[in-house]
Amino acid sequence: EKLTNIRNFSIIAHIDHGKSTLADRFLLHTKTIEERTFHDQVLDAMDLERERGITIKSHPVRMHYDADDGRTYVFNLIDTPGHVDFSYEVSRSLAACEGAILLIDAAQGVQAQTLANANLALHQKLTIIPVINKIDLPAADVDMCLEQVEELLAIPRDEVLKVSAKSGMGVKELLEAVVARVPPPETDPAQPLQALVFDSVYDVYRGVVSFVRVVNGSVKVGESIRFFNTDLTTEVKEVGYFSPGMKPSASLLQGEVGYIITTIKTPGDIHVGDTITGYLRACKQPLAGFQHVRPMVFSGIYPIDTADYEALKANIAKLRLNDSAFVAQPESSIALGAGFRCGFLGLLHMEIVQERLRREYNMELLLTYPSVIYHVFMRDGSMKEVDNPLHMPDPSHISHVEEPMIKSQIIAPATYLGAIMNLVMDKRGICLKTDNVDHIHVMITARLPLHEIVLDFYDKLKTVTRGYGSMDYEPDGYETSPTVKLEILVNSEPVDAFASIVHADRAVYRARMICERLREAIPPQMFKVAIQGAVGGRIIAREDVRQLRKNVLAKCYGGDITRKRKLLDKQKEGKKRMKEVGNVNIPPEAFVAVLRAS
Ligand code: GTP
Repeated sequence: EKLTNIRNFSIIAHIDHGKSTLADRFLLHTKTIEERTFHDQVLDAMDLERERGITIKSHPVRMHYDADDGRTYVFNLIDTPGHVDFSYEVSRSLAACEGAILLIDAAQGVQAQTLANANLALHQKLTIIPVINKIDLPAADVDMCLEQVEELLAIPRDEVLKVSAKSGMGVKELLEAVVARVPPPETDPAQPLQALVFDSVYDVYRGVVSFVRVVNGSVKVGESIRFFNTDLTTEVKEVGYFSPGMKPSASLLQGEVGYIITTIKTPGDIHVGDTITGYLRACKQPLAGFQHVRPMVFSGIYPIDTADYEALKANIAKLRLNDSAFVAQPESSIALGAGFRCGFLGLLHMEIVQERLRREYNMELLLTYPSVIYHVFMRDGSMKEVDNPLHMPDPSHISHVEEPMIKSQIIAPATYLGAIMNLVMDKRGICLKTDNVDHIHVMITARLPLHEIVLDFYDKLKTVTRGYGSMDYEPDGYETSPTVKLEILVNSEPVDAFASIVHADRAVYRARMICERLREAIPPQMFKVAIQGAVGGRIIAREDVRQLRKNVLAKCYGGDITRKRKLLDKQKEGKKRMKEVGNVNIPPEAFVAVLRAS
């Protein structure tokens, strides 16, 4: 059965190609919001998102569109997160749709993210409407974009629409194209309730709000429902639509997009991709594609001031309420005190979380060197997953180590091809192939260790391509790699916070760099202090901290006692923040210097 008046679709685009601007245009055009209550980019609700220009959470919205054929259509626009780290969430949001608008910046053309998202949409068998945006820009190169769409996506150029989300030009035609090209949802009336959870948010007062697409059946307030994959039964407290705020209704019907609030209060109980079905009349099979998302990148997070620990704990808990992919467990470090071992989906996810903790909660934080999940094969034939250098077994028991790999697509002007290939090699990767994107751009497919991507590959890529390169990646299995644990010793004692898991060839370079930075950052001590880098007990780098007695009072000639006291107090205050390792007081700046240098 076809639900002919509904269209469920999303907009997929590379960062900054104009997704939010276009969504806002739709809202205005369909009078979902009024011009006077309109402020820039309603859909990107979170402050940080707005500031960084990155959409993290999906915000669906329902609109009523009066089409040229005289009928009124219900449009459900489902926003997708704009970054590679969130590809599972993107895939679930797309699974809730029948069509996708593929938005391309006319000046920039197809970027790696555009292609990756287009592939996700094609994989879900969605109808794609290619749209070139920003045609008002003087630098717009529509021909280049058309060529790219044909070359990379094999979509004929006469199917491509041209708009300016900013001025509104072409937007009406695009809305008509949504009616004409996006297939209406199809349902099977014989089936019981099946609803896909494509996102969830936590509300302090109401508990967990699930964003759903009802595929079959319907759901009403007061009914008992079951989350299929987690096998959790609960009662429906409220259902409703996004228009654009949450608006309660009596029920949600097949083909529709809306939200469900149940008695569930724990965000971790609800998983994106899960299927909601009836408790009394349950479906036999869940909807396809459910996965447990697992963090891929790990790092320790510590407060610089140990007094901030409780606040950090509370803030991490708060962040986790709306970000189930972010995991954190208490851990303690001899050098840094109490903190958390945290897991993230990827580099950007890690940056977002750090940035939030720092900024929203105004905390000074220390982050340890990031790690991926290594497969450590032991001599006794067993295998351990290790994501923390402190858990790395003794080298004498290890047979070999495998590290996670990724396959990456990089799009850039062909003039940078050589520089990119050098960079890939420098990062222990191999180029698998290059393809033409158009007569200017190439696409390089490369295989690299995930660890290198987590460090600084993306920044380096931006540098060598002067900002014109873009990349995307997906996991690509594991590969044997000579991997070692590098320890840093201060006064012969290992400092746990400085330990890292690195490629054997990088160990010496990294050990030297850390030792040098520590020597610079640790103030002269009253006795000679050796800083050493070691792998498996073997010293591979060494620096000595200057020996000197630093007298803070030396500068105060004579009698000004208040000034002296002030200085002493200040020094005491400084001491409080110091971390003592092997009889040496290490100032937080030293940790920052080393951990930044990662
Ligand atoms: P993310 O949320 O980071 O994925 O970005 P986005 O794709 O939502 O992009 P956004 O709508 O924030 O637009 C990025 C920038 O492009 C903004 O400065 C917009 O004003 C600008 N922009 C969007 N559409 C147009 C357009 O049609 N013409 C021009 N000249 N600028 C546009």
